[in-house]
Amino acid sequence: MNPYHIQNLEHYFQVYRHSVDAPEEFWQQIARENFVWQKPWDTILNWNPDTAEVRWFEGAQLNITENCLDRHLETRADKTAILFEPNNPKDPATHITYRELHTRVCKFANVLKAKGIKKGDRVCIYLPMIPELAISVLACARIGAIHSVVFAGFSATALSTRINDAKCSMVITSDGSFRGSKTIDLKGIVDEALQDTPSIENVLVVKRIQSEIQMKEGRDYWVQPLVEQASADCPIEVMDAEDPLFILYTSGSTGTPKGMVHTTAGYMVYSSYTFKNVFQYKEEDVYWCTADIGWITGHSYIVYGPLANGATTVMYEGVPSYPDWGRFWEIVQKHKITQFYTAPTAIRALAKENLEFVETYDLSSLKVLGTVGEPINEEAWHWYNDNIGKKRSPIVDTWWQTETGGIMISPIPFATPTIPTFATLPLPGIQPALMDEHGKEIEGNQVDGRLCIKFPWPSMARTIWGNHQRYIDTYFSAFAKKYFTGDGAFRDATGYYRITGRVDDVIIVSGHNLGTAPIEDAINEHPAVAESAIVGFPHDIKGNALYGYVILKETGETRNHDNLRKEINQVITEKIGPIAKLDKIQFTIGLPKTRSGKIMRRILRKIAHGESDQLGDISTLLNPEVVEAVIQEAL
Ligand code: WT7
Repeated sequence: MNPYHIQNLEHYFQVYRHSVDAPEEFWQQIARENFVWQKPWDTILNWNPDTAEVRWFEGAQLNITENCLDRHLETRADKTAILFEPNNPKDPATHITYRELHTRVCKFANVLKAKGIKKGDRVCIYLPMIPELAISVLACARIGAIHSVVFAGFSATALSTRINDAKCSMVITSDGSFRGSKTIDLKGIVDEALQDTPSIENVLVVKRIQSEIQMKEGRDYWVQPLVEQASADCPIEVMDAEDPLFILYTSGSTGTPKGMVHTTAGYMVYSSYTFKNVFQYKEEDVYWCTADIGWITGHSYIVYGPLANGATTVMYEGVPSYPDWGRFWEIVQKHKITQFYTAPTAIRALAKENLEFVETYDLSSLKVLGTVGEPINEEAWHWYNDNIGKKRSPIVDTWWQTETGGIMISPIPFATPTIPTFATLPLPGIQPALMDEHGKEIEGNQVDGRLCIKFPWPSMARTIWGNHQRYIDTYFSAFAKKYFTGDGAFRDATGYYRITGRVDDVIIVSGHNLGTAPIEDAINEHPAVAESAIVGFPHDIKGNALYGYVILKETGETRNHDNLRKEINQVITEKIGPIAKLDKIQFTIGLPKTRSGKIMRRILRKIAHGESDQLGDISTLLNPEVVEAVIQEAL
């Protein structure tokens, strides 16, 4: 049976076994049979665990855009590659065929070349979710320039830090962006960022919102007129397997953001392979991932993975709440979406709204639902399963990271039986290990530990841009010769993995290791609770005690708060045990979140510790305004 397409559970086990017994043979077969190469590899894997140096398919030559575009022209030139759904529902959606996408990427690539960009140069892309974002990513890849996409919700400071770290010579941006009923002055943010970025020579500006902006003579150029004049003939730059494809920044628990470097061949093979299997993608499907291309999810599962498979991938410009909370479901109905991939935080927000927003629309096209980014709590899982999937569509709870390049642990729909809150089984080629605090691997089942990966996989980040030592220190030092994920996990009796949260968030209470995620899950089971976050705070006897921030569904909840506190602790006692009861519960109007929707526990921890005067930089938060409110309410 074809290992590129897993058909059922037995097939999965068979493929998985082979991928562990003979990893090189396994990946060689996948690579040989499913991609086009300019030159085959000399070796499949070179791996030095002591220096954390990994090379896959060394000696091979290719271009990823030949795999994502050119090779489809024979068989699916007129098929929609990118289906663009604009912010305003009254504006028409655009269907960009493979032929048109190929032309637009070639023209854009020629514009980059004309502005002096060549192989190995770094190009920063700071664009909203419009087709030019995907096109400029692919245009860079076509000529071997290394793209560094910065999420267009980041501030000027965050942008300039990233530009300077990679010494980008160009920024691609737009006049502005539409976000729900608002517009955002992106070019203004870029201008501010560029006050202190000596490496930048040119700025290409896409016209999107028709706003008045400043154009700096000799530096800034409108893209559209240049693209119109450019030739549509742009031969691929032939890349070595290990040439960098992109840099993508991820925040560490400390220090400056880390520029994770992903390389060409391994990333292509793994993102394509996992897209095909985790979404059980079929030729006629219309696939939608709601992430932004500014995150790894968008790189791997909006752009590269889908396009390498010749899929139709949806790009949505707007937000879930505009013009109302039914927008996602309206889009699903309109485009007959077959796979829908989103984040638990979005699911929880949607679940808080009236069910009428869902019930108005026909969701019968859906076959597979996905989640990513954080542990999904049981309540949200059931809401998603009952109301969106109508209990027919398997939910793939996909665990992975910016650093891993692709999905690592996930069910395979129609093969792996799902259980809420479990990411279930490792994908082929992935060898997880749970480690104890002494650095020993924990064997057997029904165990908790620190999640490591003990064998290389093709799409792992190769280094941190400009700082390989930091890469070794962050990922290959905690446990000898293993990649340490920073997450904790539980392996159940059947070998299923449940991600319990970052181990940096583990709280030791009276000598017991407590993960924040399961406690939050328990609290969220209380019918009055919308969302919650737990942190530790110092306690005389227990060492640490638990402090819970709880958002109620109804802000005007009139029930006695002390009774509610008792009830919440009762649920925790039932779900986890009295050890996990909260000492303090603060009912709050909001939780500080990162731009990718993750709760910023660092800030909550400071507030719980009574150190709200030492919060540090909160400018990169999604909602810095809630911080003051949370401080005011603090107990
Ligand atoms: C961290 C990585 C991978 C794309 C988006 C996030 C958490 C991610 C899950 C999941 C539980 C998850 C982990 C991981 N995480 N997916 N399905 N269940 N936790 O990428 O920003 O690099 O974050 O997100 O803690 O380490 P990222």
